[in-house]
Amino acid sequence: MTVLEARDVVSGYGEVEILHGVSIKVEEREIVTIIGPNGAGKSTLLKTVFGLLPCKRGAIFLDGENVTGQPPQALVRRGMCYVPQSDNVFPTLTVQENLEMGAFIRRDNYRAKIEEVLALFPDVIERRHTRAGKLSGGQRQMLALGRALMLEPRLLLLDEPSASLAPNMVQLVFAKIQDINRSGVSIVMVEQNARESLKLSHRGYVLAMGQNRLEGSGESLLESEEVGRLYLGD
Ligand SMILES: Nc1ncnc2c1ncn2[C@@H]1O[C@H](COP(=O)(O)OP(=O)(O)OP(=O)(O)O)[C@@H](O)[C@H]1O
Ligand SMILES: [Mg+2]
Repeated sequence: MTVLEARDVVSGYGEVEILHGVSIKVEEREIVTIIGPNGAGKSTLLKTVFGLLPCKRGAIFLDGENVTGQPPQALVRRGMCYVPQSDNVFPTLTVQENLEMGAFIRRDNYRAKIEEVLALFPDVIERRHTRAGKLSGGQRQMLALGRALMLEPRLLLLDEPSASLAPNMVQLVFAKIQDINRSGVSIVMVEQNARESLKLSHRGYVLAMGQNRLEGSGESLLESEEVGRLYLGD
């Protein structure tokens, strides 16, 4: 079953068109990675899917239903969550307060959920009363993931979750993403660490200049001559 489909999406900023008809699909329980050069429109695609930018042409389907033009809060209620590329935690709030903010649309008792989410991130649990701004880059990414998990998403959009992390932290964040995926959450992520992210992805897309360039299984993209030359440093 297809969880997310972006079909021929045209989007941009004001009059400037950045995406010229991009299409992607995410099947249930898949991890899908989007790679491509700087400025390709990867972040623009995630922002458009999440309703932060207008989809000027084309359409977005969630569980087969047309959700084009729906605002983020409506999409969150339908199980979609988005972790932006930067500024994805509130630095002056503590870890616990960040998780409480993540739960803002939950009406039921969120206390138990906070404990459940903290338990996933042992490295962060002992810092629950630390301000998020004092966490390491890796811990901050964990917290950003945790905030999204507070809403019990079925589909997570992650924009460069491993950006500017030390190699061992990259592995840790990717391991968490795999755990989250195995618990039943479909994932679409934009990544610069093309090799590591494609390794754990069921499928991937290459975007360039606001258009689809290549797509295939994680494995086939890793073996592709063009991907190797341009994105893997082969
Ligand atoms: N807020 C904005 N206003 C105007 N133009 C923008 C804005 N954000 C991005 N752009 C432009 O849109 C194009 C695509 O940007 P986008 O952030 O989607 O690229 P990206 O593929 O995510 O790149 P990166 O790998 O650097 O994160 C770029 O030319 C960028 O300059
Ligand atoms: Mg980006």
